[in-house]
Amino acid sequence: MSRIVAEGLVKQFPGEPLPAVAGVSFAVASGELIVLLGPSGCGKTTLLKLINRLYEPTGGRLLLDGTDAQSLPVTALRRRIGYAIQQTGLFPHMRVAQNIAVVPHLLDWPRPRIEARTDALLALVGLPQSYRTRFPHQLSGGEQQRVGLARALAADPALLLMDEPFGALDAITRVHLQEALLTIQRQLHKTILFVTHDVEEALQLADRIMVMRAGQIVQFATPHILLTRPKDPFVAQLVGAADGLRQLSLLRVEAALTQRAGEGANDAAGLPVLRPSDDLRFALVQLLGAGCDALPVIADGPVLGWLTLADVRAMLRPVTAEHEG
Ligand SMILES: Nc1ncnc2c1ncn2[C@@H]1O[C@H](COP(=O)(O)OP(=O)(O)OP(=O)(O)O)[C@@H](O)[C@H]1O
Ligand SMILES: [Mg+2]
Repeated sequence: MSRIVAEGLVKQFPGEPLPAVAGVSFAVASGELIVLLGPSGCGKTTLLKLINRLYEPTGGRLLLDGTDAQSLPVTALRRRIGYAIQQTGLFPHMRVAQNIAVVPHLLDWPRPRIEARTDALLALVGLPQSYRTRFPHQLSGGEQQRVGLARALAADPALLLMDEPFGALDAITRVHLQEALLTIQRQLHKTILFVTHDVEEALQLADRIMVMRAGQIVQFATPHILLTRPKDPFVAQLVGAADGLRQLSLLRVEAALTQRAGEGANDAAGLPVLRPSDDLRFALVQLLGAGCDALPVIADGPVLGWLTLADVRAMLRPVTAEHEG
C-alpha cells in the first residue's frame, strides 16, 4: 500500500458541530514525502488516523493502491503501515530491541530474521547495537524518537504515517533526525505522510506540502510553489512567503546559472567556489561575504560558469496570491 487516493473523505465526530475532516480529496503517489501543515485542530491527526483506520470515515472513500481501505482487514492493514507519533508510544517495560520488533513478532517472523532486522534498523537510525537491551527511560528524547522511527520501519511498510515525530526535540537533534529521515527516504522510497507545525521542517523535508485549515485542504503543492504562488493570504502567512531568503533556500545554483564557462574561466583562483547543488541562500551569503559580483561554479574539474548577484536577484519572484492547479 503506497498510493493513496482520498475522495471526499469526511470524519464527523458524534456531537461535534463541525466535521474534523470536512470532505478532502487528494492523491499521493508511491514514494512521495508529503508534509501536512496547518493550525492546531485543523484535522491533521484525524486524517492520518483515517488512513490507518484508527478512525472510520463518516463519508467519502479512501483507496490504498486502488483498493477501498474499508474492504481490507483492519489488523493486516495496520501492520503494513508504519506509525510514529510525538510521544513515541514506546512500551516502557520492553527493551529497545523488543520495542523495535513488536510488529515482526506479531507477524511471526522467525527469530533470526527479527534479530537481523533489528541490527539493520539500529544502524539505519544511527543507534549503537549496545542500546538493544536498554529500556526507553534509559534513552534521551532524541534517541527514543529514533527507536520510534525504527519501530515504524520494522516490518518494512510501504507507507509511513508520522505525526509530529520530532515535535518535542531541540533544534539540533531535530535537524539530525530530519537528515536521517531524508537519508532513509533516499534508500527506501517509502510513501510518507508527515505532520509538523514547523515550517522550516516542512520546507526541508517535503516533496509536496498539504496545507490544511478547518478540516479542508487549502493548497497542496511543492514548497517552491507554496512560497512563490500561495493561493491566499493564509497560506502566504503560514509558509512565510514574504521571506525571500526562504525562497532562495529552496533553489539550486544550477537553476540560476546564466553565465556558462568560457568567460573569465581562469580567474577563479582564490575565490570561494560554489557547487551546482548548493542552494541560493548559501550562494548569496558567499557572494556577499566575498564582496564579489560573481563567483565560479565548479562541479568536478573545470569552471562550469559564474553565478552573479543578478542571477540570484532574478530568482526572487514577487509573491502573488493566485490560483494554481
Ligand atoms: N476523538 C475525538 N472526538 C471528538 N472530537 C475530536 C476527536 N479527535 C479530534 N477531535 C476534534 O477534531 C478536530 C481536529 O483534531 P485533530 O486532532 O485532527 O487536529 P490536528 O490538526 O492534529 O491538531 P494539532 O496540531 O493540535 O495536533 C479538533 O477540533 C478536535 O477537537
Ligand atoms: Mg495532531
